[in-house]
Amino acid sequence: MKVSIVVGTRPQIIKSAPVYHALAKSGHECDIVNTGQHYDYEMNKIFFKELSLPDPSADLNVGAGTPSEQVSAIVAGLGKLFASAKPDLVISPGDTNSALSAGIAAAKSGVPLAHLESGCRSNDFQMAEEVNRRILDHMSQLLLCPTPGCVKNVRAEKVLADEVVNVGDTMYDSLLRFVPSLQKIDAASKHGLEEGGYAFMTLHRAETVDDPGSLRSVLEGVGSLGIPVAFSVHPRTRERLRAFNVSPGPNVTLLEPLPYVETLSMASRSKFVVTDSGGLQKEAYWLGKAVLIPRDETEWHEIVDAGAAFLTGSSAEKIRRDARKLSRVRQSAFKATKRIFGRGNASENVVRAVSRFLGAGGKKGS
Ligand code: UD1
Repeated sequence: MKVSIVVGTRPQIIKSAPVYHALAKSGHECDIVNTGQHYDYEMNKIFFKELSLPDPSADLNVGAGTPSEQVSAIVAGLGKLFASAKPDLVISPGDTNSALSAGIAAAKSGVPLAHLESGCRSNDFQMAEEVNRRILDHMSQLLLCPTPGCVKNVRAEKVLADEVVNVGDTMYDSLLRFVPSLQKIDAASKHGLEEGGYAFMTLHRAETVDDPGSLRSVLEGVGSLGIPVAFSVHPRTRERLRAFNVSPGPNVTLLEPLPYVETLSMASRSKFVVTDSGGLQKEAYWLGKAVLIPRDETEWHEIVDAGAAFLTGSSAEKIRRDARKLSRVRQSAFKATKRIFGRGNASENVVRAVSRFLGAGGKKGS
């Protein structure tokens, strides 16, 4: 049985890596197809290297474009590929344009589809990812959910999948693999920062950075926190800073987009994290760091409910107010709901679910 995992952006590579390794170990024939939605070395290939993945079996090199251009190029490329490679199952991780496109291409090619990280919801239909993940869930035959809450979400929507399985979060598997080596990697001092004496920040969501008012307000908020801020800047954000002529405050140091392990190291040595990334919200939580989330909602509300993260929106005043609460976050907040993301063996659970699904004949896609 041949399983193809389709990736194209950095979070998808991180989510997929432990699944690829577990599938390969279990004897499944498995390959990785790269759409090339992210195309800079530090946004894509470096993660293959860090996470010990083989070169992709195919690279579509779609690059930048409007969402419609990205989706149509990927669907067309994958359609051709699936017709010749004939995988028995396509695994599509996450909620990016690459993830949606892999789902459409699989469905149109009659290839069974599994959605990895199924069921997470922000209930914000303005968000491209919310639309992508909902459509993907309804196209897929095998739903691999990271938390019990995600299972509840797809059940509530009455999706017609053959199987819905709570496997745990494969990003947690990836993180646990690298936690022992984080002691040895001191990314903070490389950037002239003292352990526990800075905030680590990433911003890349269209809702945060494509609106000049919201981008300015978030930067004004973090600019007034009275602590050095190490800001790993996504290419989209760098472009918006330039286009809107916005400069962060003097306490903010701009960094290139950091590789995976360096990102974990920066988060683990920080005082706290500021991020609109869903992935980094969870990583910070697993590393015991409190988070300011400059959004109005999150897919990972369990972390907010546990008191380890604060939804500040883009208001500078709310960022300042919530930052004052960070010192009162207790260590118990990080233990309260950690297990809802699994025990670090999500990828093995994925292999079991995939084997069962394929053994049962893997219903053909619609
Ligand atoms: C995408 C995903 C988002 C995910 C994020 C991770 C969608 C709708 N969004 O957002 O869910 O959290 O990836 O990073 O799929 N660019 C470069 N070099 C690159 C990649 C992008 O310069 O290697 C620039 C280009 O100008 C591009 C822009 O960033 O147009 C946005 O990239 P895109 O892939 O469209 O969306 P992301 O913001 O990265």
